[in-house]
Amino acid sequence: MWLSSLFWLAHCNPNSALLQFHGLGGKVKETIKKAAQTVCHSTKSIALTGAGISVESGIPDFRSPGGLWERFNPIEYSTIGAFQANPEKVWRMLQEVSHLLARARPNPAHTGLGRLQELGLLHTIITQNVDSLHQEGGATRVIEYHGNTRTLSCLWCKQRYKADELGGQIPPECSCGKILKPDVVFFGEPIPTRALQESYELVSTCRVLLIAGTSGEVAPANTIPEMAKKAGATIIEVNVEPTVLTEYVTDIFLQGKASEMMTKLVSEVESILVKN
Ligand code: APR
Repeated sequence: MWLSSLFWLAHCNPNSALLQFHGLGGKVKETIKKAAQTVCHSTKSIALTGAGISVESGIPDFRSPGGLWERFNPIEYSTIGAFQANPEKVWRMLQEVSHLLARARPNPAHTGLGRLQELGLLHTIITQNVDSLHQEGGATRVIEYHGNTRTLSCLWCKQRYKADELGGQIPPECSCGKILKPDVVFFGEPIPTRALQESYELVSTCRVLLIAGTSGEVAPANTIPEMAKKAGATIIEVNVEPTVLTEYVTDIFLQGKASEMMTKLVSEVESILVKN
């Protein structure tokens, strides 16, 4: 899947007119304005978000310098095989992540997307994040592509628990005595069927895809932008730096912190709505 998507990216460059915002001044306003107009005129906009959108809430992403995978080798800590072989070890990483998640609060990028939903301009957010910050930030329609940490399951006897009924025990144990796994998608596990199907249906008919804070390196989520592009959608991308998607898929690139860019975008959208 991952290789085939790179193949597609390498052979299709529809962005002869990529609009980029890298700096300050008039160009910024112009690019934000273009993005805001695109969102306002779209009949169906979808957002795709990744770890970068929660960095300003205090949760490091995975692949940036200082990211989670610099400290925890994903092969040892994030595959389903690693969890089955040594759940206590994997819980050393999960414990650290749990502490960060417990303290994290939505930032203006989360609330900005929530506001776009409230205005009727953003149909659904597909997020790879498991932190529930979109919902806390006011979003009502969120597809959690990689699951969430609100529930945990026993891989052995299949019992399921709410995180808050486990009383903070680390590692948390099932009544059968096995160690529980949070209901997040580990490498080697399938994407939840409903999330996969709903995302596919929405993206294949969307007119705008607003991508924020993802490196676009993990399949199958990274096939969503090309799916949207093939469906004729305009791709707006927000990131602190260009990604593998920027050159080949993105139409409007807003380079900067997600909170800053989303605040500017939403404020421009609101001023367009007031004028019309
Ligand atoms: N604002 C905008 N973008 C940011 C910010 C910020 N403040 N900080 C970092 N970024 C960008 C980085 O430049 C990078 O492109 O966010 C992106 C984060 O990329 P990754 O760390 O690869 O995270 P993500 O794309 O969500 O990873 C996908 O990989 O291991 C898995 O399951 C995990 O869901 C995750 C998946």
